[in-house]
Amino acid sequence: MTRKSVLVTGATGYIASRLIPALIGEGLAVRVTSRHPERVGRRHPATSTVTSDLLDPDSLRPALAGVDVAYYLVHSMGGSDFEASDRDAARNFAAAAADAGVARIVYLGGLGRDDDRLSSHLRSRREVGRILAEGTVEVVELRAAIVIGSGSIAFEMVRYLTERLPVMIAPRWLETRIQPIGEDDLVRYLVGAATLEPGGNRIVGIGGKDVLTYRQMILGYARLRGLRRAIVGVPVLTPSLSSHWVKLVTPMPFSVAKPLIDGLRNEVVVTDDAAARLFPGIEPCGYSTAVTAALKGQIRYLDAASAPGEAAVPGSLEGMLIDRQWVPSAADATRMGEVIHAIGGDDRWYPLRLAWWVRARLDDVFGGTGLKWCREPGPLTKGARVDWWTVEATEPDRLLLKAELKVPGEAWLEWRVVPLEPGCELRQTAYYRPKGLIGHLYWLLMWPFHVPIFRLMAIRLAQRAELESGEPLGRARLRFWNAGRSAAEALE
Ligand SMILES: NC(=O)c1ccc[n+]([C@@H]2O[C@H](COP(=O)([O-])OP(=O)(O)OC[C@H]3O[C@@H](n4cnc5c(N)ncnc54)[C@H](OP(=O)(O)O)[C@@H]3O)[C@@H](O)[C@H]2O)c1
Repeated sequence: MTRKSVLVTGATGYIASRLIPALIGEGLAVRVTSRHPERVGRRHPATSTVTSDLLDPDSLRPALAGVDVAYYLVHSMGGSDFEASDRDAARNFAAAAADAGVARIVYLGGLGRDDDRLSSHLRSRREVGRILAEGTVEVVELRAAIVIGSGSIAFEMVRYLTERLPVMIAPRWLETRIQPIGEDDLVRYLVGAATLEPGGNRIVGIGGKDVLTYRQMILGYARLRGLRRAIVGVPVLTPSLSSHWVKLVTPMPFSVAKPLIDGLRNEVVVTDDAAARLFPGIEPCGYSTAVTAALKGQIRYLDAASAPGEAAVPGSLEGMLIDRQWVPSAADATRMGEVIHAIGGDDRWYPLRLAWWVRARLDDVFGGTGLKWCREPGPLTKGARVDWWTVEATEPDRLLLKAELKVPGEAWLEWRVVPLEPGCELRQTAYYRPKGLIGHLYWLLMWPFHVPIFRLMAIRLAQRAELESGEPLGRARLRFWNAGRSAAEALE
């Protein structure tokens, strides 16, 4: 039997990047499209990538050729006239899918009642569903409210607001009813939609077990993170003002915050039993379970986020703060791998020893165990203790350590080695998941110390590998001010 061939659009997007591994796991032949295939990189190696822009009909033909089921997971929110772009994209896609003989389009749209005054974002999602369904290809339109998962833009707004604001001014939209859905459940529905029996166009509302208000979502998130949060109601706060506020306190741009907040005035709950009838095997989880999984998912995501093919992500990543130092070295990759695995046990790898001493005393003051130099001899294994770190992952070209320091949040330090011709590049990334406002302030306060420490640490490791390779010292040192840039840039 030939494998079903599926196409996933928007491969760099949040939903697609969670769906693709699940489809591969089902044994389907997966092709993906993006306007930026380089960003898809090595994240989905078992797929073929086609460069395609839904606003360019010619680019859709090769993408859709030979495809049985095509997932439409694209939106233009953030662009200047997103409604017009989404309309054009949907028309192009419906026509190209019909020409290519695609059997089914699976589209993920938004919940909301048709008789409500829908926000521009939800209206546009509706319109895309309608345009796709007007074509000749069968369409399964799943409609969801907020997806709870690390990287889901709507969930990130909940996360940033709750983490950063001990007291929140509550506009009216905090009382709107929402039925959020967990990422894993959503992916199950999307995968299931590919194998439904043929049955014409269908619209299926999907949601988690709980119907909540936005206020309850914020307080529920805070409870799970051990944060105390207060919400003060005010009679008037326009979506526009709220969006400016969100832009101020979170990294989300106004052009994304505005349509999202506009949409919060619309009740988004499932009103029929179509999902239960069509997908009887799926029992969606509640909000707390979904948030707990999202917080775990954030850590799992460290893997993908720092994969060698990925471009540098400056500043922040899904609620984590990041310091990234990329240092080219004349040493070969194998030697560099050995050097990163020899880390710890004495102070030779850590620059600015006095700064670490001060940090150790602070750890004592705040009830931690203090920074202790300790390192078992021999190769590092998962779970081993290295000074004030625990090994979370170890491969010949990668080491991930979790800090055991007393910090308001959690911190990781990772090294990856990427071979170059000649030499290699050491990619050092510090990740910090701040807890609440104090956690964010801690990162800011430590920044003047962290910058030289992290830079010097990466450079010292690179130099060490050069020395042990018998290479003349210099490339890594000369590149001091280039740390944090990609190898290609640094070598220019
Ligand atoms: N996240 C949620 O909570 C949620 C909830 C309900 C429904 N949905 C729906 O799920 C779908 C995907 O959402 P998401 O959260 O994954 O969004 P996302 O992370 O913002 O991804 C959107 C994707 O659209 C692609 N794109 C935009 N314009 C394009 C164009 N002209 N041609 C080709 N690709 C284009 C972008 O890819 P490139 O820029 O790389 O090409 C990007 O990967 C949307 O339909 C959304 O309405 C999401």
